[in-house]
Amino acid sequence: MLIKKPDDIKRSEITPEQTYLNRRNFMRAGVLAGSTLLTAALYREFAVPEEPLRQQGEKLNVQQAANDTVPPLTEARTSFADITHYNNFYEFSTDKSAVAYKARNFVTRPWTVAVEGLVQKPKTFDLDDLLKLAPVEERVYRHRCVEGWSMVIPWVGFPLARLLKEVEPLGQARYVAFQTIYAPSQMPNQSTGVLDWPYVEGLRLDEAMHPLTLLVSGLYGQTLLPQNGAPLRLVVPWKYGFKGIKSIIKITLTSEQPPTTWNLAASDEYGFYSNVNPNVDHPRWSQKRERRIGEFGVRDTLLFNGYAEQVGQLYSGMDLRANF
Ligand code: MTE
Repeated sequence: MLIKKPDDIKRSEITPEQTYLNRRNFMRAGVLAGSTLLTAALYREFAVPEEPLRQQGEKLNVQQAANDTVPPLTEARTSFADITHYNNFYEFSTDKSAVAYKARNFVTRPWTVAVEGLVQKPKTFDLDDLLKLAPVEERVYRHRCVEGWSMVIPWVGFPLARLLKEVEPLGQARYVAFQTIYAPSQMPNQSTGVLDWPYVEGLRLDEAMHPLTLLVSGLYGQTLLPQNGAPLRLVVPWKYGFKGIKSIIKITLTSEQPPTTWNLAASDEYGFYSNVNPNVDHPRWSQKRERRIGEFGVRDTLLFNGYAEQVGQLYSGMDLRANF
């Protein structure tokens, strides 16, 4: 995701993705090779920090998703350790392996979410009241980052449509804008110019109302940890991961297409739609294939991340190359 050219970035600022992956794969290969003293020593040296690995959320009362809503996914789930230690959350760090540690003390209560703009009944919800609007379901979705890696994540949440119906969108509402909390005292990078803060995202109203679009409060049956966007984030499984804005405090219905953080940072690289599309390359890299975190090798990226049957009609007649 980095906009900065590699030359602009201090070496100390980043743990290159490849190093991290090599480290983890190496770790696994080492463990398979047997428990010699040397392997044990290397394992200790390369293992991710112990403290974040012990982090757990609170157990959630999760319902099974209705079969007709979610296409079944037989691909293996990414491990809890990888989902919670390989993160993009630039407010805390641009180093994916450092986010968990830097975000560990992020305060997520009390928390409110204002839902306003072109709605009949604007309301500021206390988070715990908002979460009572509907039972939370487990949804196992593919998660494809524009950088070329992917995961399979058992999210826990409920459709965003449920919340939007609660505030009754007006006829002129065509888009939904989202905003992350602005709290520089807790989020160190908000005191820097890495991105424009607060992080903002947007969807067209029909995308936001689609039954696959989720407001997520947990994963693997537990409440979200800070690094994954606690206490509430968006998940839109057919779009690149950056559309999944974390730690949301405001949702605004608008008539105009809202600005989005990565589009503001580099409009030629990140469009408003950002649908996963192997046929439309990012200017600096191909989108044809992806590396599933925790696995060796690469796999083909699927149109709309494999959800074409469910969401293809949202874009019928649209030029997906122009509307990237
Ligand atoms: N939301 C905020 N507020 N800040 C961010 O930096 N990163 C995005 C998205 N949401 C980001 C964000 C990107 S680039 C991705 S790929 C996903 O979060 C990563 O989510 P994960 O760490 O839970 O896998």
